[in-house]
Amino acid sequence: KELPWSPVMAEKGGYKHFMQKEIFEQPRAITDTVRGHIDLDRDKLVFEEFPLTKKAFKKIEKIWIVACGTSYHASLVGKYMIEKMALVPVEVDLASEFRYREPLINQKMLLVVISQSGETADTLAALREGKKRGAKTLGICNVLGSTLPRECDYVIYTHAGPEIGVASTKAFTTQLAILYLLSLYFAKLNGKLTEIRTFLEDMLRLPHQIEIILKGAEVVEKLAPQYGNAHNFLYLGRGIYYPIAMEGALKLKEISYIHAEAYAAGEMKHGPIALIDENMPVVALVPKGETYPKMLSNIEEVICRQGKLIALTEKNCKEIGEKANEVIYIPSSNPFLKTILFTIPLQLFAYYMAVFKGTDVDQPRNLAKSVTVE
Ligand code: G6P
Repeated sequence: KELPWSPVMAEKGGYKHFMQKEIFEQPRAITDTVRGHIDLDRDKLVFEEFPLTKKAFKKIEKIWIVACGTSYHASLVGKYMIEKMALVPVEVDLASEFRYREPLINQKMLLVVISQSGETADTLAALREGKKRGAKTLGICNVLGSTLPRECDYVIYTHAGPEIGVASTKAFTTQLAILYLLSLYFAKLNGKLTEIRTFLEDMLRLPHQIEIILKGAEVVEKLAPQYGNAHNFLYLGRGIYYPIAMEGALKLKEISYIHAEAYAAGEMKHGPIALIDENMPVVALVPKGETYPKMLSNIEEVICRQGKLIALTEKNCKEIGEKANEVIYIPSSNPFLKTILFTIPLQLFAYYMAVFKGTDVDQPRNLAKSVTVE
């Protein structure tokens, strides 16, 4: 009798899909990505591949970040992180827009280009456009020896390992981990950060916190049969969690083919609120912190229109527990790193919804892992 075994199954390491494996690999992927950059004994960040003096950093007038798809969402989170921590202006562009819009970038600026594959045609064209205009370039990339790192002045690698699932998961969270460390690095160079240790310790605690979320994956799995027949979803977030809502909506679209839209919760009143009824589930990201009371009132607006609410929040946020149809609790960290923690259940949700619908999770229709043509 033949054993139910194939090389592909072996590569999946006991998981049903590559995407599932890659979601569950994130604690390891993040540990590998940050390892070489944190020297806790000396309370220091190490970026040997991107050496910058305080003087050189002060000369940078503006930072631009360009990318596509999921890497673009990481870029948007990066803007919030860098501006808040290092107080340097950051502009983010979709690579496909940047390359055609005569961007006002010059030699006094730094262009950060983010790409998992290092081969996305629009991203490479944007990089070349920025270089032509004299900007210094830094690549954040996952694939060694790909085109992007060869063409950038500097490159920082995410060490997520090969990502096979078309929908990006571990590449995204490792990009966020690098952007977090980079923000701290810039903040230090700009004299805006005196005490770095707590930030580094938070980073080192993160892989274990992700494991805790992954151990509770069945809480998310149970939602799939309840919500798998919905045709539309709205994802709401504010501030640094808005791009996380965008990434959650993208994951759902990509692999379950359910239409999902992300909105900055404050914009709800300018349109999407008209869509809310009992057939429009809403996924709300409700971390503790500045935006918490505002999110609470947005949630009220959803509930009083009979919208079904799935809330991601933190322990001790009792009000949400009482109001939402479903609540997923996320461990606490600083506001920047919580973006990574809030991402995990959104990835799981999209994954289980796709499995419920029976779609081709690892190779969704019409999509490619790396888009090397325009
Ligand atoms: C494709 C992939 C996405 C990815 C995007 C950008 O659309 O399906 O998962 O986010 O390209 O890819 P990159 O390799 O440049 O990060």
